[in-house]
Amino acid sequence: MEDCVVYEKVTSHKEIESVMINCSSDFFDQSINNPETIKSLALKFAEYGTFICARKEERIAGFVAFYANDKFKCCGFLSMIIISHQFRGGGIGSSLLRRCSEQCKKSGMTTLRLEVNEKNERAILFYKKNGFKEISKKDTSFFLEKNLLI
Ligand SMILES: CC(C)(COP(=O)(O)OP(=O)(O)OC[C@H]1O[C@@H](n2cnc3c(N)ncnc32)[C@H](O)[C@@H]1OP(=O)(O)O)[C@@H](O)C(=O)NCCC(=O)NCCS
Repeated sequence: MEDCVVYEKVTSHKEIESVMINCSSDFFDQSINNPETIKSLALKFAEYGTFICARKEERIAGFVAFYANDKFKCCGFLSMIIISHQFRGGGIGSSLLRRCSEQCKKSGMTTLRLEVNEKNERAILFYKKNGFKEISKKDTSFFLEKNLLI
């Protein structure tokens, strides 16, 4: 399925917002699926982060949004990764995650961190298969981390 997938960086906040809206019914956390939150996240991603969109045959398959600018701790942060349900299980998520890791490494990050809801079993399995390890737990979240140097 991954063969004809196109990955591209999106920098305009309007375009980021439109990709996010397109995938919003697939957010695990539906409490952030409202126009104001999506707009403010899109503005933040455009200003401080990196946003990569995956398209297959002109349709949006998903996206990853992350930050690679902590020059002090050299720790990137994966904010969101979403694959539309009809494209799941075909390796697109893993490929976006690989691109995120590569980009973080290029920007000088040595680790990549993320927060995931303890009930999001599919995502936890997905992250662990892609080299993340649990580092802590707080309330309903697990914090996972990947060493980018190995
Ligand atoms: C988590 C997510 C990004 C994975 O994307 P994906 O493109 O389906 O992942 P891949 O195809 O690369 O699959 C890699 C692994 O994910 C897990 N996975 C994928 N599809 C799965 C399914 N239908 N059921 C259970 N696990 C699944 C498996 O461990 C799989 O490994 P395998 O192929 O060896 O079985 C996607 O399921 C998603 O968007 N979920 C909703 C949003 C979300 O929870 N995002 C993370 C928190 S922000």
